[in-house]
Amino acid sequence: CGIVGYVGFRNATDVLLDGLRRLEYRGYDSAGIAVRTPEGLKVVKRSGKLSSLAEAVGKTPLQGALGIGHTRWATHGAPTDPNAHPHTTEDGRIALIHNGIFENYLELKEALQARGHRFRSETDTEVLAHLLEETYRGDLLEALREALKAVRGAYAVVVAHEDHEEIVAARTVSPLVVGLGEGENFLASDVPALLPYTRRVIFLHDGDVVRLTREGVEITDLEGRPVQREAVEVDWTLEAAEKGGFPHYMLKEIYEQPWVLENTLGGRLREEEGTVELGLALDPREVDRVHVIACGTAGYAGLYGKYLLETLARLPTEWDVASEYRYRDPVVDSRTLALAISQSGETIDTLEGLREAKRKGARSLGVINAKGSTLTREVEDVLYIHAGPEIGVASTKAYTAMLAAMALLAVWFGRARGALAPEEAQRLLREMRRLPRLVEEVLEKRPLVAHVAEKYHQAQDFLFLGRHVQAPTAYEGALKLKEISYIHAEAYPAGEMKHGPIALIDEHLPVVVLATKGPLYEKTLSNIQEVRARGGKVIAIATEGDEEIPRLAQDVIYVPEVHPLLAPIVSVVPLQLLAYEIAVLLGRDVDQPRNLAKSVTVE
Ligand code: G6P
Repeated sequence: CGIVGYVGFRNATDVLLDGLRRLEYRGYDSAGIAVRTPEGLKVVKRSGKLSSLAEAVGKTPLQGALGIGHTRWATHGAPTDPNAHPHTTEDGRIALIHNGIFENYLELKEALQARGHRFRSETDTEVLAHLLEETYRGDLLEALREALKAVRGAYAVVVAHEDHEEIVAARTVSPLVVGLGEGENFLASDVPALLPYTRRVIFLHDGDVVRLTREGVEITDLEGRPVQREAVEVDWTLEAAEKGGFPHYMLKEIYEQPWVLENTLGGRLREEEGTVELGLALDPREVDRVHVIACGTAGYAGLYGKYLLETLARLPTEWDVASEYRYRDPVVDSRTLALAISQSGETIDTLEGLREAKRKGARSLGVINAKGSTLTREVEDVLYIHAGPEIGVASTKAYTAMLAAMALLAVWFGRARGALAPEEAQRLLREMRRLPRLVEEVLEKRPLVAHVAEKYHQAQDFLFLGRHVQAPTAYEGALKLKEISYIHAEAYPAGEMKHGPIALIDEHLPVVVLATKGPLYEKTLSNIQEVRARGGKVIAIATEGDEEIPRLAQDVIYVPEVHPLLAPIVSVVPLQLLAYEIAVLLGRDVDQPRNLAKSVTVE
């Protein structure tokens, strides 16, 4: 979602609409603004593109020099007018906008309803409006700090009150930037919205709470203690700003993975009950087997799904690339679930595979990123991955979000089928909750990965090996490398290496081995020995604290310890970075590699 806030002397409506337009690339399905007019706060919001909001505003222009605006990419609640932001208190005196997810919103909502609050939307955001109603006693900043103590999750929130010439805001995980002007100040989720007005910005940190007036900016922590944040001058072009200051969309998207995982998982985990809340109409007990239908990166996410669905839910799962599935005359009945996985929701092979399964009587579920895509209309039910728009052709954040979605589905089926004990589910869910932080830690390894890339970027071929859930990670690592560096890369389940690929091994072949801790760790170590014995160079992805590995591998990239079934989510990140760094060293067009397309709509 995109956020803009303004306080100053210009026509706020113009600043907000202009800012939102510059954030449209972040995706939208509805948009809205609130402006402080002489008659009080006025809110206009519309589902659909920004143009429908602009049209609505055009009919009833809002006068005022303070306002907040939002473009939405729906998470909780469909993209309808009432679900669009801003949300207001019942008396309409406070308006707010929000990015992210309040994970405990259901509990809060029930408690608020019990205290007499009436809700007008299905969003998690609205709970904050009602909390503010209770905490506001004249000081808006203080009210926000107090209200935020009740919520858990990721957020960037911006609030306005009709009695105050100020905007207050706060962030945790979701980004928020202050733009500094003369006699005016700005807030935005992303720099592009600010560029026409100012280049002096403050990037807010997790836990920062701010008060913005025409004259100044006051920043505190959640306890109200003042904090100092430095203003920086951004020299970005608009294009660079859209990449969040990163040189490529792919790198930006790799770095978005912590908050993407938070979006995918945050509101859905119920650790205490050992369950997940997926909002699906499908009855898990009506399914006896799953057919995964997907292509490319989504296909590998589906292969991971197969391991999980079988291990955790004892649900027989077949896996094919969609172009094979649709022509192999699969055996399908009415208790077969076609699980179609797609970032774009437009891949023709996937759509046709799904149609084939449906013709044969299958039930269907989509795991999809793009709202409104063709696939969303053809499946019975959708589990959105909420990764936000992915622009780099080589998929990264959609992959980790799909893996997380597979884990959610496996727990959901596992619990419903009685295959997964509640304690084991709780343990997994607690581990899933840690994933955004863990991926953040892995991202800090970029300098080390760059060093490894430097060492091996001249290689002609790469081999990737992994076992069990890490086999798909190996496939995806090899796919990323070949897609953007054009280096030939092959992946094998590590145990299969001795049946062929071992003939390729010599001192010129870097072999990337997924060797994280888990039941098959020892077996993987033996495979590393086999590579070494033949002079191959081993780059190991290993679990933090493993002291054995450095004795065997030339290079080790550590990832944090996590439940072995979730290790792929942290392990694929260094492989994405490795492919990226190598492609950059080779001068490749990272975001638009030759011959590839983001979404392939031909057979
Ligand atoms: C294309 C893209 C891949 C993607 C695949 C499936 O080949 O280049 O990156 O994984 O399509 O796309 P989907 O949108 O269905 O996930």
